[in-house]
Amino acid sequence: MLINDHFKARPTDIIVATSPKCGTTWLRALVFSIINRHFFDFNDHPLRKLNPQELVLLFEGHIHKDGSTSFLDELPSPRLLSTHIPYSLFPKRMTDDTSGCRFVYICRDPKDVLVSKWHFSNKLRPKEVPPLSLEEAFDLFCNGVSHYGPFWDHVLGYWKASVESPKKVLFLTYEDVKKEPLGCVRKVAEFLGVPFSPEEENKKTVEEIVKLCSFESLSNLDVNRSVAKRSERPVSNSDFFRKGEVGDWVNHLSPEMVEKMNQITEQKLQGIGFNFH
Ligand code: A3P
Repeated sequence: MLINDHFKARPTDIIVATSPKCGTTWLRALVFSIINRHFFDFNDHPLRKLNPQELVLLFEGHIHKDGSTSFLDELPSPRLLSTHIPYSLFPKRMTDDTSGCRFVYICRDPKDVLVSKWHFSNKLRPKEVPPLSLEEAFDLFCNGVSHYGPFWDHVLGYWKASVESPKKVLFLTYEDVKKEPLGCVRKVAEFLGVPFSPEEENKKTVEEIVKLCSFESLSNLDVNRSVAKRSERPVSNSDFFRKGEVGDWVNHLSPEMVEKMNQITEQKLQGIGFNFH
């Protein structure tokens, strides 16, 4: 509602979209580095001093209850913003093929999302509240009780949009970016209309971006090792970095949980031309 009523989209807006725990931090860092690559030296890069969430703002957090969007309005173009909002909730003026603004979406195997979410939720819980059990977290997730709505609906919305409007929505998976980071970075740059030149390829700019944004690199920076929490946010920068692996679910989920989750995924994504494998 607030977005619909108050957010003044610009045709140059680039929006990094994710369901929480699917790789928001990583994608923010990658897209920021891709579009700003001409302005910064990789050895003295803003990502070395600031957490990706400070460089790419979750824009729904900056639309205030009174409808004020002044902070967002003052950002220079092109704006790079982040969101967890489902595609269907964006106003037509942003999702229309003619609107110009573009979405880069990343999703992840729901079994890994659940495990990541469970660890993260327990970090957020006040000390007085007992930890959430994995079983409870599993039931909530499978029943669609997630921030920003059921996980599978979130994926479906962006997947369909990427098929219908491939110039507007780029659909990536965490697993693909892990497997082929260089190819994915090139794909994002092309999608955003800033492909790498032969000179940049020679200088290994794509490799530099992948290296700077890797889990090993970002998670070891002082700024991201910080456990300090700010009053308005009960999380610290370090909470956004745990293992950064594909398939950690094998260390947590029972065979019954795996079967149930796979069944839901099969059923929800049936016939759409995409699945997590
Ligand atoms: P795990 O909990 O599985 O380790 P989000 O950024 O959407 O909140 O997602 C957090 C997940 O992404 C965590 O997964 C975190 O470790 C992982 N992550 C953070 N930075 C990453 C990076 N640069 N590369 C790969 N994974 C990363």
